[in-house]
Amino acid sequence: MSTQTIEVDGLRQRYGDFEAVRGIDFSVASGQLFALLGTNGAGKTTTMEVLEGFRPAASGSVRLLDADPYRHRRALRPRVGIMLQESGLIGDLTVAETVSLWRDLHARPLPASSVLDQVDLTEKSGTAVRQLSGGQKRRLDLALAIVGRPEVLFLDEPTTGMDPEARIGTWRLIQELVAGGTTVLLTTHYLEEAERLADRIAIMHRGEIRIAGTVPEVVSGHGDRIAFRVPAHIPIDALPLLDGLPPEITVADGLPTARWTVTGGDPDGRAHRAVAALLAWAVEQSVTLDRLSVRPASLEDVFLSIVENQ
Ligand SMILES: Nc1ncnc2c1ncn2[C@@H]1O[C@H](COP(=O)(O)OP(=O)(O)O)[C@@H](O)[C@H]1O
Ligand SMILES: [Mg+2]
Repeated sequence: MSTQTIEVDGLRQRYGDFEAVRGIDFSVASGQLFALLGTNGAGKTTTMEVLEGFRPAASGSVRLLDADPYRHRRALRPRVGIMLQESGLIGDLTVAETVSLWRDLHARPLPASSVLDQVDLTEKSGTAVRQLSGGQKRRLDLALAIVGRPEVLFLDEPTTGMDPEARIGTWRLIQELVAGGTTVLLTTHYLEEAERLADRIAIMHRGEIRIAGTVPEVVSGHGDRIAFRVPAHIPIDALPLLDGLPPEITVADGLPTARWTVTGGDPDGRAHRAVAALLAWAVEQSVTLDRLSVRPASLEDVFLSIVENQ
């Protein structure tokens, strides 16, 4: 028995001549939430569809609950909950009728009232699906994915179209499911969603995983950012080197801002050392460090550096 609930090794997938997934590897341990981030067209949905058993892996191997998800789709189905990127709800049915239809497909479904309560749709029970907002439909999709008490949950952009309140409610529900032992693979465009929910993340771009790990691991490789606004009387070439590097200069409102990214090998001490050097320089030059900021790289910095540089 593998301790990994999901294992992907060297997966490749093509549509005709176009290779949408170009050899990716990752695994998700039981009871963990793994988030796949990436630009549109990165290959996230394609990867999920292989794991969901909708199509065989063209090359490489995927395992779900120690089985081949394509060959053993029937056996796996009761153990897996799926929320597709595009929902296939029937517009004429009410919310309650939809949940009831899905409960009938499962051996041990959650009570309808409890699942509607969990996704905050109790008041919409009698409403036709057609009349729901985009965010409400997304919550109904989530209800259907969890109604069979799945061990593994696939959530493809679960909160797209939700207002902030519904999104926060959905995050809470996902956290409760993970706390209860459910393994989750999620895709999202919202970096904050991944930061809040994920044990581990991978950022995909053009069919490849460009970086993966816990959020602190992923951001620590991208350095700490130090910046201040340079007074008019200081020439740019008089600014110090920090960690051996000159600053990048950007101009806002007519005043230059100097920015350094320190990436030295010691993530805990490097910002301290660089700021100490900057302060020593400032004292020597009698310069006040206007709008001084020191911060770790954010997930957004990492994401942008991946999608903008190639
Ligand atoms: N059925 C299909 N036929 C042809 N190309 C497809 C098909 N589905 C997806 N693609 C292409 O494969 C790439 C990856 O798509 P997808 O997996 O949906 O990415 P993501 O979910 O990350 O946005 C995209 O360039 C998309 O246009
Ligand atoms: Mg997608």
